[in-house]
Amino acid sequence: MKKLICCVLLGLTTAGVHAAGPSGDFMDANVDVSDTASLQRGANLFANNCMGCHSAEFVRWNALPEGLGVSMELIEENLIFGSYEVGDMMMSAMGTNDSMNWFGAPAPDLSLTARSKGPDWIFTYLNSFYRDPDASIGWNNTLLENSSMPHVLWHLQGVPEPVREEQGGELMTVGIEVPASAAGTMTEAEYLRATRDITNFMTFLGEPVRAKRHQMGVWVIGFLVIFTFLAYLMKREYWRDIH
Ligand code: HEC
Repeated sequence: MKKLICCVLLGLTTAGVHAAGPSGDFMDANVDVSDTASLQRGANLFANNCMGCHSAEFVRWNALPEGLGVSMELIEENLIFGSYEVGDMMMSAMGTNDSMNWFGAPAPDLSLTARSKGPDWIFTYLNSFYRDPDASIGWNNTLLENSSMPHVLWHLQGVPEPVREEQGGELMTVGIEVPASAAGTMTEAEYLRATRDITNFMTFLGEPVRAKRHQMGVWVIGFLVIFTFLAYLMKREYWRDIH
């Protein structure tokens, strides 16, 4: 009996511990898939700025209303461009071949990127673009050197310039900075929030049922605790006459 209680208690204390993300010099995205307002903003930014090139082909459009807390009609009206049939996946308008021709690399499907790279990687990536006249597409990225993705959110962030520093006799790009003369429509704080919202939405895409599963986990553990207690009372009752 003691063992069983120990197991339950152990389960309770470890339930809140999550697997650690990849380590490194990443910005902290601080994602929270139960923040539906953030997911809604993220979905809007994602559909309008990313799905021209990227798909999320493992996710069905109709998985969105529940996680985002909005109706399917609202999703159809605001996020889906082009034709839509019930049960359709979140496909991009651009085929892989077009992407190869235009950018020299396929725009990867983003359904599972938050799982493979981690939310902090994505958040950092979206905050690491800078203008680079030497790069073939005119943009570069401090996290993913020579990335073939252009800085599609430049109208929001502005046009960042590289911050260079001499390290060991070589000029290294150590960060980015948006000059006041090249500002976008958002302040720095607003852009950080927007990119966090997109990252949050991509984390949700990786597992639309995650928020629900966490919620259910609490109920299951609660049930187990109560059940264990009842079983203990019953055992005491049974053994009372025998002792
Ligand atoms: C103009 C087309 C285009 C648009 C629009 C675009 N991307 Fe990309 N994206 C690419 C290409 C091409 C790559 C491949 C880059 C490489 O590997 O060098 C890429 C790569 C990525 C990656 C890295 C994935 C990986 O596994 O390496 C992420 C994350 C990403 N994009 C997120 C976004 C987000 C978020 C948006 C919207 C804000 C967006 N992209 C909009 C073309 C685009």
